[in-house]
Amino acid sequence: MEKVVSGIRPTGNLHLGNYFGAVRSFVKMQDEYNCMFFIADWHSLTTHPKPENIQSSARTILAEYLACGIDPEKAPIYVQSDVRETIELYLYLNMNMYLGELERVTTFKEKARQQPDNVNAGLLTYPTLMAADILQHRANKVPVGKDQEQNMEMARKCARRFNNIYGVEFFPEPENFYFADKAVKIPGLDGSGKMGKSTGNCIYLRDDDKTIRKKVMRAVTDNGPEAMNSPRPEVIENLFTFLKIVSAPDVYSYFDEKWNDCTLRYGDLKKQIAEDLCALVAPIRERIEEYSANTELLDRIAARGAEVARASAAATVDEVRRIIGFRR
Ligand code: TRP
Repeated sequence: MEKVVSGIRPTGNLHLGNYFGAVRSFVKMQDEYNCMFFIADWHSLTTHPKPENIQSSARTILAEYLACGIDPEKAPIYVQSDVRETIELYLYLNMNMYLGELERVTTFKEKARQQPDNVNAGLLTYPTLMAADILQHRANKVPVGKDQEQNMEMARKCARRFNNIYGVEFFPEPENFYFADKAVKIPGLDGSGKMGKSTGNCIYLRDDDKTIRKKVMRAVTDNGPEAMNSPRPEVIENLFTFLKIVSAPDVYSYFDEKWNDCTLRYGDLKKQIAEDLCALVAPIRERIEEYSANTELLDRIAARGAEVARASAAATVDEVRRIIGFRR
């Protein structure tokens, strides 16, 4: 079975955009592929050398992904820093990566601009660490967003180069596995295109009913439909997108007709969305709370995940040592 590996940025607090994007596709993939997911806490040292509460942020993310339906029996989930084997592979791979090509990576250039006083070697070799994350499991597919394209190109380069240098066909070239094409894009409630943390227009999976209602009721609208069967302006279409995602098809048709015959009241539409959203989010929120309260269980799941990941990485590193010629 094809292997899928993906890293999760260690910033918790998932919102609906994440849920309908990456998270739900991870949940689907775990039934179709041999999946492993991990929290990329080492990578965060490239920008935050002294992170606060590393352990509790890892638990937060773990609780959220489990609450959304990641089943650790199907898809082990682990913390990157628990798998020390990665570092050895990172070292070997770095020997074949060149300064010039690493310096040309856009995210490196961006970060170097953002933190001119901390252009560290870890930042430069971020793509190598990511390649090690992937190649240690000899993964075939990596679900990532478009912003990771260049890092994925580097991971393939690492695989190819290793194979060429040692005359082996050991590492498969990992493919990008875009879920974004199939995933539903969640619009922002402020009329902006997309729900995202930086735009401050998010509904979080941890939001309570009251907060969700408030956020929905505050959503931007206009003066109302002006002519029968007219096309909807973006802010209104955004509300209908929500309705399509969270409400039943007949509810959608009901409001769609109301729009078309100019009898739609936005207050009613928002109330409907708010109630259906609450019904969707509440059970997830409750599961997040349950998991969060059970740190022992979370630690056990992470430890078990690490065990599986270490076994997989150790086998790879062992073979790499053999290929290069080191004692095993
Ligand atoms: N760079 C990825 C991001 O910023 C996170 C990540 C680290 C990752 N290692 C990975 C993703 C390995 C996929 C595979 O989102």
